[in-house]
Amino acid sequence: MCGIVGYLGARPATPVLVEGLLRLEYRGYDSAGVAVLRAGKIAVTKTAGRVRDLRDKLTDDPATVGIAHTRWATHGEPSDRNAHPHLDADLRIAVVHNGIIENAEQLRAQLTAEGVEFASETDTEALAHLIARQDAATLEDAVRAALRGVEGTYGLVVLDRARPGELVVARNGSPIVLGIGDGEMFIASDVAALVHHTQQVVFLDDGELATVTAAGFRTSTLEARLTNKTPTTVDLAADDYELGGHTDFMRKEMAEQPEAIARALRGRLDERFATAHLGGLGLDPMALRAVKRVKFLGCGSAYYAGQMGATLVEELARIPADAEPASEFRYRNPVVDPDALYVAVSQSGETLDTLAAVQELRRKGGRVIGAVNVVGSAIARECGSGLFLHAGPEVSVASTKALTNMTVSFAMLALLLGRVRDLSASAGQRIVTGLRALPGHVERVLADDADIARIAKRFAHAEHMFFLGRVRGWPVAREGAQKLKEISYVHAEAYQSAELKHGPLALVDANMPSVVIVPADDLLAKNLATIEQVKARGGPVIAITNAELPSGLADEVIRVPRGEPELDPILLTIPLQLLAYHTASALGRDIDKPRNLAKSVTVE
Ligand code: F6R
Repeated sequence: MCGIVGYLGARPATPVLVEGLLRLEYRGYDSAGVAVLRAGKIAVTKTAGRVRDLRDKLTDDPATVGIAHTRWATHGEPSDRNAHPHLDADLRIAVVHNGIIENAEQLRAQLTAEGVEFASETDTEALAHLIARQDAATLEDAVRAALRGVEGTYGLVVLDRARPGELVVARNGSPIVLGIGDGEMFIASDVAALVHHTQQVVFLDDGELATVTAAGFRTSTLEARLTNKTPTTVDLAADDYELGGHTDFMRKEMAEQPEAIARALRGRLDERFATAHLGGLGLDPMALRAVKRVKFLGCGSAYYAGQMGATLVEELARIPADAEPASEFRYRNPVVDPDALYVAVSQSGETLDTLAAVQELRRKGGRVIGAVNVVGSAIARECGSGLFLHAGPEVSVASTKALTNMTVSFAMLALLLGRVRDLSASAGQRIVTGLRALPGHVERVLADDADIARIAKRFAHAEHMFFLGRVRGWPVAREGAQKLKEISYVHAEAYQSAELKHGPLALVDANMPSVVIVPADDLLAKNLATIEQVKARGGPVIAITNAELPSGLADEVIRVPRGEPELDPILLTIPLQLLAYHTASALGRDIDKPRNLAKSVTVE
């Protein structure tokens, strides 16, 4: 999604801004732009396309104040004129904005009636005109007054030609973070753009504004009440956002999974009582026992991780559990169960649909915790308590290590819920041991890379693929299909194995390979029958399994180590990441920047 960078200090601003935009590229965008204040005038450079295209258009510039943006089109096509920054008619105010102004049509009509001519089709341009038209003593007051008439979400930065020493930022629903330097200040929509300059940051809250100068900042609310924020230190290093010798971030992050799992487990497993310690939940044993139902809410892969979590909770704690796309939940006037524990699942902590589901739950008095990877993110803060995922920064649009750490965290949650109920100590111990073995098991799957690459190449020509699984294997199949679609653009459909015969089997022929998830559990015979059904129609089969299969049954077999059956989904998902990755690379796709997608989806 869109990215924002701002700078004020003693250095030339342009290189800092461009470097910041390059670090936000991973979020997905279609155009980029920069505005700097030079000799009392705002100089704007914009382009549809990549940040490197923007860089080619820029010249050396001594300006020391500026704002920059990468845009992911919502109002108006991706084009030079719709790219941010946007200016008012007198070229006095420049604005970069993330989010969506919901009453943009109304504001544009009103401003047009007052004689304003719009230079773009965007909602953001209305903000520039509105701010410029305020009769206010300070830029902050002008922004505050303009925002009173604005509905929707925003993270924005405003540059005023008349006030060269300051920038004003505001936040409602789209993140804004200030980075504190020595005699210089940085602004961004994501700490990724800041951590190579400073680790001292201030996250703005919704409804907050800040006036930023090279010497510091002052935060206040939309109602002009000072908020006196103090900086926090982010525990992230610049090289978390570097490729470190890998060809792309997806590959790097898949390789980081053993380490990421170990981090998620550290200090949380208790051998003595065969349980997990999850202090961040803020639930004592009585509260845990009072939970009558668990519901996971997330979008995309986070929803599939939630589905794996629901299976784990039902199996280990015997509490009814399910998962639902947060985007559906928020719109269907959900019945909120006061005895349920709701878990909002999100790598970024910014996904708007998930955030809206959390807000709906809180409004109705539901108990909701977050399972979030980004500390200080909107969902983490809205929930207040939960499970921190400890996956480390995830840059690749296709989620891998964050998804794995979601499922590992849900296994610990299920273990804890089970052990305050009737899960026996020996069963609990079995899960503790199984979790401890996971990093090593994932290592072994990753070592199978060359063989999985060969299999991917063999089937990369297929236009369509089935991913089949049942019960524990069903969310695994869904996640496998999702990974393949998003980075290789091969059409993939996930189906519950037993449902195949009720319709989709008609599609199976020699050109329709099926990836079948075959855990070595008590449904093994059923899954072998699924393979037989597909083979009988001439369909090629790739089996993902930790069982011994009859020889020659599947065309290709990808084996994973055998662990505790309840944890199988975690491990069975890993080869599907590699399969998608190698299919995409055989097809020459831009793996870290899949078309039409963004890393965090902060719009509806
Ligand atoms: C798939 C993927 C997306 C995200 C989804 C939710 O690989 O990355 O489907 O899982 O957009 O994002 P978060 O977890 O940030 O809420």
